[in-house]
Amino acid sequence: MNKLKHLAIIMDGNGRWAKERKMKRTEGHKEGVNVVRDITKWCAKNNISFLSLYAFSTENWSRPKIEVDFLMKLLEKYLIKEASTYMDNNIKFRVIGDMNGFSNKLRDLILSLEEKTSKNTSLTQILALNYGSKDEIARAVLKTKIPDNITKNEVLNLIQANLDTANIPDVDLLIRTGGEKRLSNFLLLQSAYAELYFCDTLFPDFKSDELEKIIDDFKKRNRRFGNI
Ligand code: IPE
Ligand code: IPE
Ligand code: MG
Repeated sequence: MNKLKHLAIIMDGNGRWAKERKMKRTEGHKEGVNVVRDITKWCAKNNISFLSLYAFSTENWSRPKIEVDFLMKLLEKYLIKEASTYMDNNIKFRVIGDMNGFSNKLRDLILSLEEKTSKNTSLTQILALNYGSKDEIARAVLKTKIPDNITKNEVLNLIQANLDTANIPDVDLLIRTGGEKRLSNFLLLQSAYAELYFCDTLFPDFKSDELEKIIDDFKKRNRRFGNI
């Protein structure tokens, strides 16, 4: 049976969920927040160590301003309102992505929730905000001092230590909701040997019983890591 330490989810399909109901796309994002809360609590109760959630990509800035503004406001409200969820469930909060992309207010809220939850010991929930793998790797390389004559493994270790995910184990299982079969620039290096799962369920309809079934399937898969 495979052990699941790090679960990553590309939370996709909010806009289509709302459209199906003749609502504004933004209603789908609001509903998505409830799913984030439920799934996060479920992971904490089920002994998963790391849950990474793709919430806003480096490419998502290209969406209409009204949607981007809504998402930033929703994130602000989330960080304030959900602080109790993290504390009540002993969950640590951490962000990956380029925080320079955000307003001072949002950055302060992120830092203060990271600080407030830093001693919690059950699940670590990692929210990917203004995150893109290509951007993360470029930032990591800029931060890395690479001495002459080092080995390929050494250089990889140095770069990994400067990624946003430093000290977080690689992804074991990567799920994408919403029916698309692509990674959209999410944790590319960290998912080198992740098991992949694509489901058609739109994120606002994604419930823990479906997650549980996917995890059961994951546990039975044969992970070979290049071996036989
Ligand atoms: C994912 O849902 C959430 C974000 C990218 C912020 P989408 O907003 O991409 O929803 P669809 O894919 O358009 O339905
Ligand atoms: C991926 O969803 C990003 C997040 C879930 C935050 P997108 O909806 O932005 O991805 P594409 O554009 O369909 O690849
Ligand atoms: Mg989408």
